[in-house]
Amino acid sequence: MLEKNIDFEKYNQMKEAPENEPERQYYFIAKAKELVKKESERLGRTLTCAVITFGCQMNARDSEKLAGILELAGYELVEEETADFVIYNTCTVRDNANQRVYGRLGNLNSLKKKNPNKKIALCGCMMQEDSVIEKIKQSYSFVNLIFGTHNIYKFAELLVTMLSNDSMIIDIWKDTDKIVEQLPVERKYPFKSGINIMFGCNNFCSYCIVPYVRGRERSRNPKDIIREIEELVADGVVEIMLLGQNVNSYGKNLEEPITFAELLKEIEKIDGLERIRFMTSHPKDLSDELIQVMKESKKICRHLHLPLQSGSSRILKDMNRRYTKESYLELAGKLRKEIPDLSLTTDIIVGFPGETKEDVDETIDVVKKVQYDNAFTFIYSKRTGTPAAAMENQVPEEEVKENFDRLLKVVQETARERVKLLEGQVADALVEEINEHDASLVTGRLSNNTLVHFKGDHSLIGKIVTVTLKECKGFYYLGEMVE
Ligand code: 5AD
Ligand code: SF4
Repeated sequence: MLEKNIDFEKYNQMKEAPENEPERQYYFIAKAKELVKKESERLGRTLTCAVITFGCQMNARDSEKLAGILELAGYELVEEETADFVIYNTCTVRDNANQRVYGRLGNLNSLKKKNPNKKIALCGCMMQEDSVIEKIKQSYSFVNLIFGTHNIYKFAELLVTMLSNDSMIIDIWKDTDKIVEQLPVERKYPFKSGINIMFGCNNFCSYCIVPYVRGRERSRNPKDIIREIEELVADGVVEIMLLGQNVNSYGKNLEEPITFAELLKEIEKIDGLERIRFMTSHPKDLSDELIQVMKESKKICRHLHLPLQSGSSRILKDMNRRYTKESYLELAGKLRKEIPDLSLTTDIIVGFPGETKEDVDETIDVVKKVQYDNAFTFIYSKRTGTPAAAMENQVPEEEVKENFDRLLKVVQETARERVKLLEGQVADALVEEINEHDASLVTGRLSNNTLVHFKGDHSLIGKIVTVTLKECKGFYYLGEMVE
């Protein structure tokens, strides 16, 4: 939709790149188009490109932006890593994500030996760490381009530099206050989309590397957000997911401050938009105003992801989370009372420095009391540069493992019970895809985020249909469409 408005011929005629964004990037997309075309002609085939995403929904959205530019530049987007150009959009929130990238890079090197034209780029959170850049320079010198989270909007420009150079290009910024609007995006799903409403994080939870790699909190202008959603709806999107590390503090630093709840009210008015989701909510900033807006809304989905991290007030203090076990339980109680059909999900870390068996008992107690529909449990990962990494009382691996298993058991039991509550009921589901294992079924998502599988075909994809939830299979349902 956007690309139709860009006159690439005009940008191609220009002698020099414009200073202003996004025009500057349009100019470089036009240049990239020429370079890709030439290479395609030389090889006698279309060039292929794969964007591989690690990590969270933010990264998934960033990957769609990269894909949008690559497609305009003339690449055919594929999934296979045998592609002519492979980009890894990396995550560094836990060390195992980093290790996976290094492992897969070794494999890419073998593929590159078979295809000398192959190009490899790395971007995302991991690239914001100096130690990672050093390691790649030393041990993975076959990588062609490295950039970070702050200059991703410059991807078209970096692409042109990479295509016109043989040496490794590295461009990492420490921070930025810039938000560039109106860049092309290639969505993974035609009917649903993520939308960044803010970037970065100011919370500095003591275990978390995100504030260091994603920079300070910046909110987008409400007008730009609304315009983007309107364009998406005109393009067939019915469900949106508003993205930010801490959406509840949206708008506080804007020139004309606005609350997240006020933004939601504006978004609710958009005709044709059926469902609104958002992620992630920090418990310390979740306002009564937001609960009311959710309660009254016809479009906001009945799902809230509310990371707990720990149920021990002592650990929460060391984590710098700025709430206690009691205040979290009070908030969860209020949410349950005001919006009874709301599903609550959470993130929990086990093995934070100094955590004892008793602290984990406190966490288990919260899980039992809140009855989460789902909880993502993580083993604490030491991230260099964070305050927690310097704490002396790191917990021995064996103990962490035991606590983790104990917690996981309770999480699974409570989630099973909670999800089962809807059995026999009728609910609306947005059909997302053909079932991965059985092509006679489609997979739909309920407002509360639970999946349901039922008989159907391609024609249903992107539609909201009514389904009877026949049988709960633990974390999902088997259902039947109501004709
Ligand atoms: N170790 C383990 N889990 C972490 N998370 C963030 N940092 C760490 C870490 N150092 C988890 C938190 C967060 C989720 C996205 O990742 O639970 O909510
Ligand atoms: Fe990390 Fe805490 Fe910010 Fe979430 S709120 S990104 S856990 S620092």
